[in-house]
Amino acid sequence: MSTEALFDINVTNVAYIVAAVLFIVGLKRLGSPATARSGNRLSAIGMLVAVLATVVGNDLASWEWILGGVIVGSGIGAYSARKVQMTAMPQLVALFNGFGGAASAVVATAELVRLIDRGDGIAEDVSITIMASVIVGGVTFTGSFIAFGKLQGLVTSRPVLLPVRNVINVALLIGMIASTVWLIVDPSITPFLIAGAIALALGVLVVIPIGGADMPVIIALLNSYSGIAGAATGFVLHNDVLIIAGSLVGASGLILTRIMTKAMNRSLANVMLGGFGVEDGAAAAGGDDDRPVRSIQAEDAATMLGYAQSVIFVPGYGLAVAQAQHQVRELADLLKARGISVRYAIHPVAGRMPGHMNVLLAEASVPYDELKDLDEINGEFQRTDVAVVIGANDVTNPAARTDTSSPIYGMPILNVDQAQSVIMMKRSMSSGFAGVQNELFFLDKTQMLFGDAKASVEKIIAEVKDL
Ligand code: TAP
Repeated sequence: MSTEALFDINVTNVAYIVAAVLFIVGLKRLGSPATARSGNRLSAIGMLVAVLATVVGNDLASWEWILGGVIVGSGIGAYSARKVQMTAMPQLVALFNGFGGAASAVVATAELVRLIDRGDGIAEDVSITIMASVIVGGVTFTGSFIAFGKLQGLVTSRPVLLPVRNVINVALLIGMIASTVWLIVDPSITPFLIAGAIALALGVLVVIPIGGADMPVIIALLNSYSGIAGAATGFVLHNDVLIIAGSLVGASGLILTRIMTKAMNRSLANVMLGGFGVEDGAAAAGGDDDRPVRSIQAEDAATMLGYAQSVIFVPGYGLAVAQAQHQVRELADLLKARGISVRYAIHPVAGRMPGHMNVLLAEASVPYDELKDLDEINGEFQRTDVAVVIGANDVTNPAARTDTSSPIYGMPILNVDQAQSVIMMKRSMSSGFAGVQNELFFLDKTQMLFGDAKASVEKIIAEVKDL
């Protein structure tokens, strides 16, 4: 039996269903650090099945090019994912999203050119999906590159607020709708090019007003857009697995955006309007407060920890900056060897990207069962001797519960202030991302251990060994 006959349309469809199931099971497994790696692998296998089924099932003339593309693309993907620093992961995701959007737009362009050349006219629904693909893909492409530039420091991370930006954006939206109607009435390349150019401009204009520190939320949103563009291209090509994969990416990106904005107690509109969380400016805000705080040295911290019964580590963005995860694990091992209960409290938006703390701690081989989510751990603080805050700030600020004027009011926080005592590791009195002073610093039970988190933990390790 020939290869073509074997991979007739039914076999291709079965392969697509297998791929879709692998995507869904893979996504489900991404929900827990313990299963995330295998989830990732399953989804990648699903994508390979989908690509092979499409190539073989469609009897493509130049499948060698596609195979070459798969090999080169996989090589670049594997290399960049291995090489990238954990703290630069959002930039990498931004680039991948941008290329995903661009790929959808390019495929839709090729299909339009083919249909115009054929000269049989273009059905309305096809025109609309081609436009959807190029518009969403174009916005995703330039928006993602601006997001990348902001995080990488190539574009200013401050919000760039053009004076008449709303008028410009509305004019561009009207232009896009008008060119789509034009393409439906008169299928030609001109309205398509106009819509494409508008989409590219809109991507830039939508992202530049947003502060650099809000980029992870925008990247999650652009990830969703890249999925929507892919799904639209799936409709253009009548390719079911592309529709399924695009919809899964679109929906999960939106859910992630929602989880992040909810955990930050912000609306998506508030993020999109920009002007919040500009890190350079935020860092200075804590400096003016001259209320006294208690500060301790590593020796005292080691004594507090070494003679405690239960300890909760609360990691935050500063852990990532200091790259102290391996030292924290080593300290935890020493404490456990002394019979002390050790757990880690993980806030959903601690750090600067989704799952930031989980990834760092997993890299240091911290056992998954010691990582506790906010809901799981919050009731435990009052029964805990020492809470050790390592470079976390906003996610521990009790003002979020009570101070209605605070920008983080209403954000769910870790109940660190309910522990018997608190060790707060940071370099200075500076505030965190939200730019607000942390009331936790000034509580009687709080001891500040100033210095780089990695150096501080190393000193505590040396002291605990001598106890
Ligand atoms: P932050 O509130 O930003 O505080 C981090 C603290 O780490 C700073 O106060 C800083 O104080 C300290 N730090 C920095 N480098 C350090 C080092 N080398 N050693 C020790 N400490 C160091 O962090 P958080 O508590 O993790 O909260 C996260 C914030 O980011 C939230 O407001 C959240 O809404 C926002 N956000 C999160 C995400 C995601 S998805 N995670 C995305 C966007 C925004 P010093 O300068 O004094 O050392």
